[in-house]
Amino acid sequence: MSAPLKHSPLPLDRDAIRAALPEHAVIGREVRVFAETASTSDLARRAAEGGAEEGLVFFAERQTAGRGRRGRTWDSAPGLGLWFSIVLRPLVPRERWSRLALLCAAAVRRGLQSTLPELPVQWKWPNDLECGGRKFCGILIEASARYAIAGIGVNALHAAADFAPELRAQATSLALESAAPVERERVAGAILRALDELWQTDWGGANFNAICGELALHSSLLGQRVLLSAGSRTIEGVAEMLDSEGHLGLLLDDGSRLRVTSGDISRCRLKTAED
Ligand code: BTN
Repeated sequence: MSAPLKHSPLPLDRDAIRAALPEHAVIGREVRVFAETASTSDLARRAAEGGAEEGLVFFAERQTAGRGRRGRTWDSAPGLGLWFSIVLRPLVPRERWSRLALLCAAAVRRGLQSTLPELPVQWKWPNDLECGGRKFCGILIEASARYAIAGIGVNALHAAADFAPELRAQATSLALESAAPVERERVAGAILRALDELWQTDWGGANFNAICGELALHSSLLGQRVLLSAGSRTIEGVAEMLDSEGHLGLLLDDGSRLRVTSGDISRCRLKTAED
């Protein structure tokens, strides 16, 4: 745990983020920083609709209508996080665009490994990153026929009191987990750089296997008893494998197997004497 937190006194510095990227980077070729917006993913979508090149990134210090998966809101406190969205124009077949979430998760993990190497970052299939079982990053992919928007939210400088009381047990931030100081621009630049590197690989083809393998090594779900919420149903089982498409394989109690392509998964709570 780190010492008491100091909130970043300065707004995000666009040039400092860009400094981490190679000159000819595709992802992060242009970075725009806003003080406030409804959602950076809306900014990116409007830009994409207007013909923006892929790799354009929008950051905002504050989102007034940040959104998460499944219609949830995303708490985007001013100055504490990295709230950003990237315009992507994947050339791979549309049915493989579901890989984008895992690609972004791998980029966030790699970016953190290079800037805060002591952080024990774990990947929670499919779109979250955690430390010690608490979420600090969520990824939202929104796609149209011609482009995809990758929205990434990283809780960076939050103290525990910065989270709403109902979130405190599940949420954390980089600063809460790291003994080293957290510099948002360095982290953001490293994530974009990692995504740029992954973007240049054959992630739509054979290289995706390696990305899945990398994520599987840091998975917080594999080998665990989990609960899948599917509409009004819940299904319990053991998360036993990740397939080459990044789908999660569950072993159910009756011995059957289920391939999960999307959904909400949580670890089962260990039973206590009171249960
Ligand atoms: C989730 O965990 O449900 C995904 C959260 C995604 C949040 C990010 S913050 C930047 C971008 N803008 C949004 O409105 N949402 C994404």
